[in-house]
Amino acid sequence: MSHNTAIEARRRSAVSRGVAGKSIYVDHAKNAELWDVDGTRFIDFTAGIAVTNTGHCHPKVMAAVAKQAALFTHTCFHVGPSEGYVQLCERLNDIVDTGAPNKSLCLTTGVEAVENAIKIARSATGRPGVIAFGGAFHGRTALGMALTGKAKPYKTSFGPLPGDIYHAPFPNEYLGISVDEALRGLDLILTSDIAPDDVAAFIVEPVQGEGGFVIAPPAFLKALRAIADKHGIVLIMDEVQGGMARTGRMLSGEHSGVKPDLVTLAKGLGGGLPISAVVGRAELVDAPHAGGLGGTYAGNPLAVAAAHAVLDVLKEDDLCARADVIGTRLKEALIKMAGDHREIGDVRGLGAMVAFELVKDGDPSRAAPELCNAIVAEAQKRGLILLSCGTRYNVVRLLPALTIEDGTLDEGISIMCASITAALDAHKSE
Ligand SMILES: Cc1ncc(COP(=O)(O)O)c(C=O)c1O
Repeated sequence: MSHNTAIEARRRSAVSRGVAGKSIYVDHAKNAELWDVDGTRFIDFTAGIAVTNTGHCHPKVMAAVAKQAALFTHTCFHVGPSEGYVQLCERLNDIVDTGAPNKSLCLTTGVEAVENAIKIARSATGRPGVIAFGGAFHGRTALGMALTGKAKPYKTSFGPLPGDIYHAPFPNEYLGISVDEALRGLDLILTSDIAPDDVAAFIVEPVQGEGGFVIAPPAFLKALRAIADKHGIVLIMDEVQGGMARTGRMLSGEHSGVKPDLVTLAKGLGGGLPISAVVGRAELVDAPHAGGLGGTYAGNPLAVAAAHAVLDVLKEDDLCARADVIGTRLKEALIKMAGDHREIGDVRGLGAMVAFELVKDGDPSRAAPELCNAIVAEAQKRGLILLSCGTRYNVVRLLPALTIEDGTLDEGISIMCASITAALDAHKSE
């Protein structure tokens, strides 16, 4: 029995089945490659779900963490604050363009940033309501689940969920949901469910992540901005997955030209160490009373040191530009594959946040989740780690490290294309 298989068996008896996922037990990782406990090498097209945008174990990130570890690892910002935290907020305030002076706070996970953004919006407006969008993913805490626009597997059996949260349709060109139709859905909520002056916030992913890498058309974000401005609603952009250079801009919302009021950051910010942040208009971020925000580990010094190194690397290595190069190469290969295989119904993405959607006979309405699973499984057999996503479980998402070497990228792309062909052939002969 391989070491992997043995650990998998122990996992089944020791770990909650609620924590699902792959069974590649990692021994070590470097940039866009990792090796399991049996010594098998994999090319990683997931970056730990858009976390190691600067690659696994980037030397500058590792050095920053080691340097900080030798000084102190934890004091709690509420007890022994560090200059690094303050400086990180200063840097983030400069990165996010809200059109006004910004303030920030650091937290630990993506969903914690989301929760705090909602707390800030409610505190600033004195209103309870929040409107999120169908297909959205905002995390797994009670509020995160309630905001998430996908019932299974995220919400089912975990109720009751926090109230005053509504879901409007998210536009999806491929599925024929136009911007106008989505906005009509929002209008219906604002007339039938909750009045605009009871709404604290809209929370939107400029590119839906778990929902299937669905890109919000700029016209949609512009319309949200206009409705928010008209009614004093806070516009929160959840950049947890799409932020930190992933889409070719520091923030995915920048593509639209629409300025958010608040932004949530996590994942890629820490390059593998857990840190998140809420950044936004100072008068909003300052609305909660002293003591209302924070947390024991929020802005942990090791993670703060990592985040500083990540910000340095993103800039020094111009990883926004690199994201575009990677994305172009991925899309070129996939568009060619789609020309030969009508099951690849759509290829889409911004920068290095690229996905392809699998359907039966080229029909967008007939999702092919089994084919999606077969491609991911085939790629794994051939040494490439892929992830699926999408409200219909039929989208393969590609999130390689932005530091991936050209040779590794090419190798990963050819494994991906061979896996698609093999999975489709097997599927057709069934
Ligand atoms: C857009 C978005 N928001 C929030 C979250 C939750 O982040 P975390 O899992 O770190 O709590 C995720 C995680 O995938 C995400 O993609």
